[in-house]
Amino acid sequence: MTDLSRRAALGLAAALAAAPVAARATQARPVIDAPHPALDRALTRIAFGSCANQDKDQPIWDAVLATKPDLFIFLGDNIYADTRDPAVMAAKYARLAAKPGFRRLRETTPVCAIWDDHDFGENDGGADYPMKAEARRQFCDFWGEAATSPRRTREGIHAAYVFGPAGRRVQVILPDLRWNRTPIQKLDGVDYKAWSEAKKAAGTLVPGPYARNPDPAATMLGEAQWTWLEGQLRQPADLRILGSSLQVLADFAGWEGWINYARDHQRLFDTIRDARAERLVCISGDTHYGEISRLDVNTPYPVWDVTSSGLTEVWPVTPPNALRQGEVWRDRNFGLIDIDWSAPAPKLRVDVRDEGGAPRLGVDIDTATLTLT
Ligand SMILES: [Fe+2]
Repeated sequence: MTDLSRRAALGLAAALAAAPVAARATQARPVIDAPHPALDRALTRIAFGSCANQDKDQPIWDAVLATKPDLFIFLGDNIYADTRDPAVMAAKYARLAAKPGFRRLRETTPVCAIWDDHDFGENDGGADYPMKAEARRQFCDFWGEAATSPRRTREGIHAAYVFGPAGRRVQVILPDLRWNRTPIQKLDGVDYKAWSEAKKAAGTLVPGPYARNPDPAATMLGEAQWTWLEGQLRQPADLRILGSSLQVLADFAGWEGWINYARDHQRLFDTIRDARAERLVCISGDTHYGEISRLDVNTPYPVWDVTSSGLTEVWPVTPPNALRQGEVWRDRNFGLIDIDWSAPAPKLRVDVRDEGGAPRLGVDIDTATLTLT
């Protein structure tokens, strides 16, 4: 540390010591994790979505744009690359770029993005996908990541941003659930294709092919990203949005979700508690249906997970989820977060809206309830 920076640090320490405790959290400046051109923007309306197939029409952008969001968060499967050929991936990004609605979104609205399996490059893929460095380069180029962005070089494209002024800071945290992920655990001793087809023929629910991974070393984030995430959760913010490509809460392990990695799943809630990261709400994608989940057990405070999927994709059956609140919405959809800043702890309305913009699912969340006791 130079003399100058030591003096600055001492000055900051003295200022912090003099500040009332309650004021410190909002006065401290967050450490910038990755550059974003819209960090000064105050957010009152955030739209989000996932699962946009570049080979299909995407009329839903009209409804998204009509809400005039301050930010749009892409939660993954932003294209369906599904390839080990860089030229094929590039061509699919070009198809998304040419969509009229998507172009208008880029012209009018700040965006941030994380990938899921299909834009990472492989269905249900993880750390062993061989083209991931090239996929990272294409992702960063397509989404306009700065040349200096750490997302271009670190082990995963995870990112965190803090938008808006003190007192109205919205932190958006986007973990990378692919780059470091241990291979998914398949159901033991089952020929899934034959088994699922027999179930379907019998008219019963068709379960997914996966199970919880019993290996205590199995992870979605990897240790370096856990250290990063804990550091981000300690940054000052008035509202935190954890944007997860996979569902955070849904408790059915037959398809992919945090639940498949039981140790990481509990570690997330423990890390939120240890970091004293209050007023955090989860949003997620992947499923090809919309639903809202809530967990109150072994969590620091009630955890909400609002799932919006897909922008173009739908799924014919509804998997079980004991944490689901209300119904599922099984048609194309996007998510919308409205933030009421008039109270000291912001009040949220979070909706899942259909292709015409009508709310189909929704929840009011008073972030004063999302605090540690
Ligand atoms: Fe998808």
